[in-house]
Amino acid sequence: MIPVCKPWLPGNEKKYIDDAVETNWISSNGEYITRFEEDFAQFCKTKYAACCTSGLAALHLACSALGLKKGDEVIAPTFTMAASTNAIIFTGAKPVLVDSDPETYCIDADKIEEKITERTKAIMPVHIYGHPCDMDKINYLAKKYNLYVIEDAAEAHGAEYNGKRCGSMSDVGCFSFYANKIITTGEGGMCTTQNKEIADRIKKLRNHAFDHPRFVHSEVGFNYRITNLQAAIGCAQMENAKMLVDARREVGIRYNQRLEKVKGLILPKEKSYAKNVYWMYGVVLDENVRLSRDELKDKLAEEGIETRSFFIPMHQQPAYVNKTAENVPDCSGSFPIADRISRRGFYLPSSSNISDEEIDYVCNSLEQILKEN
Ligand SMILES: Cc1ncc(COP(=O)(O)O)c(C=O)c1O
Repeated sequence: MIPVCKPWLPGNEKKYIDDAVETNWISSNGEYITRFEEDFAQFCKTKYAACCTSGLAALHLACSALGLKKGDEVIAPTFTMAASTNAIIFTGAKPVLVDSDPETYCIDADKIEEKITERTKAIMPVHIYGHPCDMDKINYLAKKYNLYVIEDAAEAHGAEYNGKRCGSMSDVGCFSFYANKIITTGEGGMCTTQNKEIADRIKKLRNHAFDHPRFVHSEVGFNYRITNLQAAIGCAQMENAKMLVDARREVGIRYNQRLEKVKGLILPKEKSYAKNVYWMYGVVLDENVRLSRDELKDKLAEEGIETRSFFIPMHQQPAYVNKTAENVPDCSGSFPIADRISRRGFYLPSSSNISDEEIDYVCNSLEQILKEN
């Protein structure tokens, strides 16, 4: 089976883990932690970075550090992974959903303004599948209405908008280092920011909000501390960050070239402002293809090719539709783009170190199945 994605640890990962174990620095202090944060801030071109246990933790820390609370609203895309909107819900604030751009699948920046109310406190763009959102439009609206912007860059390590790195164009950028991410620590997350006060607040909140003296807490904190072991892997990954990002992008470009002329598939786009890193190479089946997306996925599986369906949009999630909390998003709107891509979209094997032969095999199999059906 060609897996949909597997981690790639091509450098000093094992050496640094061994070092952390041998020196006994296995918990949430240790020099790999500060080094990982410094390296990641430099990579994103931000002044500060604070690591934590997951992408969800990064988003929750960002929302909390910016003071989101009950009664507030945050504008977010319906087409995302549930961590984006759940992080908002944790704070008591309510996500307000917006449909996707038909080309990039990111939040449709032209549909944000109509959702802004006096309760809106922030916008959370999510750089879907490694393609940046239209950040100039989003930041223009944020300035006009005095809103925070939290970038969910969980899928967009190294992606760029007009030369600026994802995670550097907002109040806080949030990353995931889960095993399928372009840079991974197994599990892990990072907040990036240009603002020292926000960085300090995130670091305090992730560590039980310890005050001075210790065991005095002036606010409710969390334990979202990463260990020196994960940070050791992170440091090794950062030494190869350019190679890891370039390799993932090359996979996307090779798929684009090989599938360009295949009928029945809508391929991912790269807007003129964007450097797409193709975190996952997502294709959408044209409406005139008779096969359903799941039938096609099954046929690919028979050929030894693992694929994954696109996200199911937030307005279709039972946890939200069934109002399991008072501040879950209103699911009653119309979201035709998200509905369509979620029904017809899936991603192909996208590991950074997938071979050219494997990509060719996937493309030939896909082309053959589409021809026969
Ligand atoms: C857009 C998005 N946000 C947040 C997350 C959450 O990251 P984690 O799994 O590290 O909590 C993911 C995970 O894949 C994601 O795709």
